[in-house]
Amino acid sequence: MSEKLLEIKNFNVRYTTDKVISRAVNHVNLTIHKGEVLGLVGETGAGKTSTALAILGLLPKYTAEVDGEIIFEGENLVGAREKKLRAIRGKKISMIFQDPMTSLNPVFRVGEQIADVIKFHDNKLSHGEVAEKVDDILKMVGIPASRKGEYPHQFSGGMKQRVMIAIAIACNPDLLIADEPTTALDVTIQAQVIKMMRSLQKELGSSVLLITHDLGIVANFCDKVAIMYGGEIVENGTLEEVFDKSRKHHPYTEGLFASLPDITTRTERLTPIKGLTPHPSELPEGCKFHPRCPYCMDVCRSGGNPPQHQNGTHMIQCHLFS
Ligand SMILES: Nc1ncnc2c1ncn2[C@@H]1O[C@H](COP(=O)(O)OP(=O)(O)O)[C@@H](O)[C@H]1O
Ligand code: SF4
Ligand SMILES: [Mg+2]
Repeated sequence: MSEKLLEIKNFNVRYTTDKVISRAVNHVNLTIHKGEVLGLVGETGAGKTSTALAILGLLPKYTAEVDGEIIFEGENLVGAREKKLRAIRGKKISMIFQDPMTSLNPVFRVGEQIADVIKFHDNKLSHGEVAEKVDDILKMVGIPASRKGEYPHQFSGGMKQRVMIAIAIACNPDLLIADEPTTALDVTIQAQVIKMMRSLQKELGSSVLLITHDLGIVANFCDKVAIMYGGEIVENGTLEEVFDKSRKHHPYTEGLFASLPDITTRTERLTPIKGLTPHPSELPEGCKFHPRCPYCMDVCRSGGNPPQHQNGTHMIQCHLFS
């Protein structure tokens, strides 16, 4: 097995706003090895973005409280000094956000924004060397270098997202976090961007944490999959394990797959999971999925978390398998 790049251990995030406590991330354990793509899957409110922001030390200072460990290249980032985190952000770990306009600066030409990252990463490069790298990176993401003098608003949605990706990879990060990178794009453009990201990832050999609620994207891009519900990882394994219909799965994972259109039978028999994701300020006792679970038993309704069943690399947190 390859070397571990990032290890999140027994990690929790709690927000306190107006005396309301939200347990957004609960006892999360995740590992990303070098060169691996991990898909973090779950509905809105599952705690995916909070996990990503925690890795970068970008959670709001006064409202978020964290505990546990985030070990990156052997060092714990939880409680690390801002100076240390700043050195890691944008150099070793970079992030692509869902909405490119929140991270692209509208008043600077895209070439300048990419050049800034390159210069921040390596301040010894000459002007010519930086310009050459900008051209290379633009080409890598499928944008003609001749467009480097344009401003973000001159690009379409898909092209803006490519610019974002160019900025994120400009420092050749060890870990790229992509938080719903294609959600704002239409389906054909989504497929192009994902295909491009996959080939870039292969070429650069970087590890990726891909956050999405789209299992189709996971199938096309990821090596490992973690399913998140109510701030917890309820199932975790290789892509083959989580997508293998002949295996047992967490009832929530089953529900996610049942709510996908079945293209093989061409019928629209979608069975959405009934009920709503609980708000993290009102998480139920026992198994957090129990109010929605078709297999719910008495034991699921009270006490702490269900036991975690580990079968090789495949983990399921559920009473059904005890
Ligand atoms: N800054 C914040 N303050 C208070 N609650 C927050 C904050 N950010 C997120 N939350 C809450 O934490 C929960 C998880 O949010 P988030 O991590 O964004 O989930 P996801 O990315 O899976 O949709 C949500 O219910 C959200 O309302
Ligand atoms: S622990 Fe119980 S309620 Fe939770 S997913 Fe398993 S069977 Fe359903
Ligand atoms: Mg999110």
